[in-house]
Amino acid sequence: MGSNKKLRLAILASGGGTNLQSIIDQCQQGILDAEIVLVVSNNPNAGALGRAKKAGIATTCINHRDFDQREDFDNAVIATLQEAGTELVVLAGFMRIISAVFLQAFPQRIINIHPALLPSFPGLHVQQKALDYGAKFSGCTVHFIDDGVDTGAIIAQAVVPIFSDDSEATLAARILEQEHKIYPQVIQWFAEERITINGRQVAIEAGKQDKSTLTNPPVI
Ligand code: GAR
Repeated sequence: MGSNKKLRLAILASGGGTNLQSIIDQCQQGILDAEIVLVVSNNPNAGALGRAKKAGIATTCINHRDFDQREDFDNAVIATLQEAGTELVVLAGFMRIISAVFLQAFPQRIINIHPALLPSFPGLHVQQKALDYGAKFSGCTVHFIDDGVDTGAIIAQAVVPIFSDDSEATLAARILEQEHKIYPQVIQWFAEERITINGRQVAIEAGKQDKSTLTNPPVI
């Protein structure tokens, strides 16, 4: 733990919220020098809202269906985030595209987690796409948001093997387990102000290097 000042996170989630839960847990355990000041969902039925309420975290539901234009929805979300004093916007299963107005409000301060090894398999249903393609590895990627879909500079990735008897559900679960490790880690690097971005290159100050390689199936 560094200084007393905690990084103020807003988490945006549309679904069940297991990534949110891993961040809540690590904040509560004092592993993260961060506090979740607000959880925002576009989906009134998102499990993430229930998880946040249970942890005593402020929640807001802003339903995108109430807005004609994407920018109007984004402006409503931005106002809420600014009011809460958000320093880092964390997308955790947030299934809306972020518009330019949102990027301008939080430059290099919006991060996302994606359940594939970008730039392979951007978009939706990517665990099934990796299976259908016959890939031997997949994983997850934490990246900055830019003006493309899943194209922003990569901060961290974790790799998992794909097995011949995998289903979409078994692969998604294996990937999620890694998501729950690397997303809190990246947030802690932000809290420690160790992340620098230069074009597509993201560096972690005093980050470790692991020179091991992976082969699947193994070479005997
Ligand atoms: C996670 O697998 C996350 O990577 C993915 O949605 C899931 C949310 O799970 N995000 C995307 O596909 C973003 N395009 P969770 O609600 O249990 O955290």
